[in-house]
Amino acid sequence: MLTATGLTSLGVGAIIGTGIFVLTGIAAHDKTGPALILSFVVAGLACIFAALCYAEFASMVPIAGSAYTYAYATMGELFAWIIGWDLLLEYTVASATVAHGWSHYFQEFISIFGLEWPKILAKAPFDFDPALGHFVTTGAMIDLPAVLAALVVTVLLVRGIKESATVNNVMVAVKLAVVALVIVVGAFYVNPENWTPFAPFGYTGISFFGHLIHGQTGPGGAPVGMLAGAAIIFFAYIGFDAVSTHAEEAKNPKKDIPRGIIWSLVLCTVLYIAVSAIITGMVPYDQINIDAPVASAFDQQGLGWAHFLISIGAITGISSVLLVMMLSQPRVMLAMARDGLVSEKVFGAIHPKYRTPWIGTIVNGLVVATLGGLLPLRLLAELVNIGTLLAFVMVCIAVLIMRYRHPEAERPFRAPFFPLIPILGIATSLLLMLSLPVENWYRLGGWLLIGFAIYFGYGKAHSYIGRRAAA
Ligand code: ALA
Repeated sequence: MLTATGLTSLGVGAIIGTGIFVLTGIAAHDKTGPALILSFVVAGLACIFAALCYAEFASMVPIAGSAYTYAYATMGELFAWIIGWDLLLEYTVASATVAHGWSHYFQEFISIFGLEWPKILAKAPFDFDPALGHFVTTGAMIDLPAVLAALVVTVLLVRGIKESATVNNVMVAVKLAVVALVIVVGAFYVNPENWTPFAPFGYTGISFFGHLIHGQTGPGGAPVGMLAGAAIIFFAYIGFDAVSTHAEEAKNPKKDIPRGIIWSLVLCTVLYIAVSAIITGMVPYDQINIDAPVASAFDQQGLGWAHFLISIGAITGISSVLLVMMLSQPRVMLAMARDGLVSEKVFGAIHPKYRTPWIGTIVNGLVVATLGGLLPLRLLAELVNIGTLLAFVMVCIAVLIMRYRHPEAERPFRAPFFPLIPILGIATSLLLMLSLPVENWYRLGGWLLIGFAIYFGYGKAHSYIGRRAAA
């Protein structure tokens, strides 16, 4: 049985990965400079507000699931569908993003031994060039390590690798040891002059559908600045909701699930702030490597041994995140299939021998491999962020509505300072959504339209509720 500590370890296992090990480089280099430290504070706060609401939601319906399951039980089918559809985007695209991060550190790791992965198979075929402000071809055809990572994890998941608590604890220990090494050793190599100017791109970077409201824009018109950076590195916090998928193995789910969610988030926030302070202190922001910034910072100081250890830690850490993300998506799909909202034959199919939702896992694995192989990291990360932030907004709204509609319902965990926390959760998430480049709104809108088409064209009529109503 899992205690609050075990659940916190699961949360940390799902959280620390590509965000801190890779996206810090892109954010500091192109959007924030050393103000990245504050970006981590802001994004951490937005997550903590949402996590408190998430924890209240999870404590009301302490069954294994996700925001989708909670929404179905409390808010009805359409609301649940929107959250579920949004979660699918989050998990699938996040997996593709994480697979990219894995590829970066894999390539960094083999470079230590003087090996170079063939360039043509090392990257997505196009990427955003921040200096030019538009997408350019990279000369590569596909990011093959990202594809292979996604396919290997798919095979493991179809065969039913039980992400056992022991394996997870080992992976978390390796990750935390490496993060501690970055902080403790890195502290000796910080040059405080690198923190000036602190916010070369300003402190904001908010636009409203392409019109700048406050701050500066970079080449290509996308907002830059501390908030714009927060909207990118928000990715580093995604995954804390994985704690709630273990409700059935928890000793005291009503109390320990909220604790696990909140403790893992607070721990990661503190570590992220420290790591970002160290990296921006070790390397001038405009020289931070954007592919493997943490390991490279140590390499740039001639600390080959630390470069080696950090690359191993990053690969381990990112692998555990990939495993959890790719495990979660087919399970949300399975829950939706069981409610009749998507094809039960396909997404509800359980493998006779391995007892896993195998078709859903394979479909998801192929999509992740394709996206991870062909689309660039920042495009994927931004899309995940806007989708996840929307899920946060909806969870906070749901908590507000439920408090008014069903004040009597049992809530073993209550978000404090009601209604302040859900309102702050909605406000900070919307602020970060507005700090993302405008194309992401259109992409999110497109995704939701497809979702509505499927719901009204299929789900509504086939769902158990719909069928009962028709009978
Ligand atoms: N938070 C996870 C990561 O950074 C998704 O990889």
